[in-house]
Amino acid sequence: MAMPAPVVTVDGPSGSGKGTLARLIAQRLGWRLLDSGALYRIVAAVALARRIDTANGGDLAAMAQQLTIEFRDEAVLVDGEDLSRRIREEAVGEAASVVAALPEVRAAVLRLQTDMRQLPGLVADGRDMGTVVFPDAPVKIYLDAGLEARAERRYKQLIDKGLPANLPALLASLRDRDERDKGRVVSPLKPAPDAFIIDSTSLSIDRVLELALDRVRAVGLMGDTNINQP
Ligand code: DC
Repeated sequence: MAMPAPVVTVDGPSGSGKGTLARLIAQRLGWRLLDSGALYRIVAAVALARRIDTANGGDLAAMAQQLTIEFRDEAVLVDGEDLSRRIREEAVGEAASVVAALPEVRAAVLRLQTDMRQLPGLVADGRDMGTVVFPDAPVKIYLDAGLEARAERRYKQLIDKGLPANLPALLASLRDRDERDKGRVVSPLKPAPDAFIIDSTSLSIDRVLELALDRVRAVGLMGDTNINQP
C-alpha cells in the first residue's frame, strides 16, 4: 500500500498562535494547509445566517454536507460567497465552539479534513488534529499560551483587521471557549500522548517556528536545502 502523505499537526487553544505557526510551517515545507477551525466557523456562520438551531446536530450536519467550500489563498468561499471576514467575527467563533461539541457535526467535518491529506504533505491546525483526525501524523505539536497573553494577541489581531474588539469580553469568551473545547465529550482539546508541547507565552513566533521546524527536521521530513528559506 502507498505511504499516506505526511502530516504535521498543530493543536492548541484559541489564540495560542497555532494558525500563524501552521501557515509558516506550510510555507516553509511547500505543503497544503488545513485550518480546521475555519470549517467549524463556516458551519456556525451558515447556521446563524439560515437560522438553523445551533443545538441541532442532525440539521447542522445535513447542512454541512451540502456546502461547497473553497479555500483560495486567504479567502474562504462557501457556495461561491466570500465569508472570509464573517467567519473571523467573535460571535461566529463562539457559535463555532458550540456546534463543534456536537458529534454529528464533527463526523460531517471529518471527511472534509481527511480529504485534504495529499502529497507532498499537509499541515493541519485545530484542536484534535493529532488526537483524532490524523493520529498517525509523524509530527504533532501542541501550542499553548497563558490566557491573558492569548486574549491580548486576539485583541491586537481584531484591531489590526479593523474589527470591533473589547479586551475584558475577549478574556471571558476565551475562558468559556477553553472550558467548552477541553470539557466536551467528543474530541476534547488535549495534547496527543506523543505531542511536542510548546508554551508560547513568552516566545516570539520566530522562536516557536524554529522549535517546530527542529521537530520536522528530526523526523527527516525536511531537506537541509529548505532550512534557510525566508
Ligand atoms: O481555531 P478556531 O478558533 O478558528 O476554532 C473555532 C472553534 O472551532 C473552536 O472554538 C473550537 C472548534 N474547533 C474544534 O472543535 N476542533 C478543531 N479541530 C478546530 C476547531
